[in-house]
Amino acid sequence: MEKYSVFDCSMIELDKHHSDRKGNLTVVQNGDTLPFDVKRVYYLYDVPGGESRGAHAHRDLSQFMVAASGSFRVTLDDGKVKRSFFLNRPYQGLYIKPGIWRDLDDFSSGAVCMVLASDVYKKEDYIRNYDEFLEFREISNDTSVKRL
Ligand code: TYD
Repeated sequence: MEKYSVFDCSMIELDKHHSDRKGNLTVVQNGDTLPFDVKRVYYLYDVPGGESRGAHAHRDLSQFMVAASGSFRVTLDDGKVKRSFFLNRPYQGLYIKPGIWRDLDDFSSGAVCMVLASDVYKKEDYIRNYDEFLEFREISNDTSVKRL
């Protein structure tokens, strides 16, 4: 499988149906909005201030991450380059390709991180050990990681 870099991951702007009186509505629809079809949705919430989540990569899974409420930071890492994104708009999301390490932190109070995923939960798709991740990326451990 192709190894993607952090530059293959990007923010996607979603449509926003605005009503002055009734607020906003945003849609994600298979075949239309994202480069993959959604098989699973999960969300992180009630993350205590100062806590971090993630700290893993997926072998095959594609994900789209949205701050449905509040804000948080996502740092992507392809083993060579790190790239941070601050998510704070329900009508924008981060498209994360397979094989990218991610760390989530800086959660605001009331933050909801909604994740749309290309597959159902598979424990074996996770890489939770950073050295194993570098091996998966075929990068030797002494390579220094650049932060952008
Ligand atoms: P985990 O992936 O460790 O959360 P994060 O990396 O975002 O901090 O998942 C936490 C727990 O939830 C873990 O026991 C696995 C379970 N889980 C499921 O059962 N199904 C799922 O779809 C997900 C994402 C997690």
